[in-house]
Amino acid sequence: MSERTRRGGAGEYERATRAAKYVLDRTRLWPRIALVLGSGLGDFAEGLTNAARIPYAKIPHFPRSGVPGHAGRMVVGGSGGVAVAALQGRVHYYEGYSAREVVFPVRVLAQMGAQAIVFTNAAGGINAAYGQGALVVVRDHLNWQGTNPLIGPNDPRFGPRFPDMTEAYSKRFRQAALEEARRLGIAEHEGVYAAMHGPSYETPAEIRALRTLGADLVGMSTVPEVIAARQMGLGVLAISCVTNMAAGILDRPIDHEEVLRVGEQVKQQFAALLAAIVPRIAEAISPVGTAGKA
Ligand code: HPA
Repeated sequence: MSERTRRGGAGEYERATRAAKYVLDRTRLWPRIALVLGSGLGDFAEGLTNAARIPYAKIPHFPRSGVPGHAGRMVVGGSGGVAVAALQGRVHYYEGYSAREVVFPVRVLAQMGAQAIVFTNAAGGINAAYGQGALVVVRDHLNWQGTNPLIGPNDPRFGPRFPDMTEAYSKRFRQAALEEARRLGIAEHEGVYAAMHGPSYETPAEIRALRTLGADLVGMSTVPEVIAARQMGLGVLAISCVTNMAAGILDRPIDHEEVLRVGEQVKQQFAALLAAIVPRIAEAISPVGTAGKA
């Protein structure tokens, strides 16, 4: 990636357009719903019909993740008759990418025509009501990464310089997700997600501080992507999988293997929930429309 790309200067919009065109040239679908699937949570994309699977390495300008559990490809296909584009794996700020680079894939999904986006992630549970493996609908966030993907020159074609974040996580989508969870017999949880830099996990003192500040969940992703998605006017839903209780809550250390293992255990349930939510979101963004149907 060039120095100019790194700094996110002029041409970012054109790069996103080029990447979007590359993907759309390889499918006959017009996905209006995008999904970003986190660590070990990429299973949903395996079930898509008429799928085009495109490795990130092939997509112009796309950043690549080196984190185990992140497949690194885009899958465009149908889910319950709705065309979707799913990213299996994301890049993170802690990998050394700038916040701007981290959100480039979301820029591409928007350029492809997505109007709504669903983020999934693995997170530590701070709220004692959650257990390991709980799926939690994100109600709001704390951006504790100390950076923002919109820092630097603003291209108004993406959206406003100062985007509103009052209802960053669509109330309508959240309600639909909670209803579908209930229908599937999955415990309903909603919470506030705090994004930290990583890659070290938090200390117990940091977790106590985050709890005092109103956080229910802690993780190392999603928030920059949500900010970029909101700037571009996409409707956002985010769901966390509590892969572990946050530091100091249980008397034992946190390790990434365990995070992956718990993701593995709930992946089918998570995929079923996403499959149930997609048609609800499709309905919300276009009540009777058929555009984008797979
Ligand atoms: N902290 C931060 N990120 C995480 C955690 C955690 O405990 N679990 C999974 N991602």
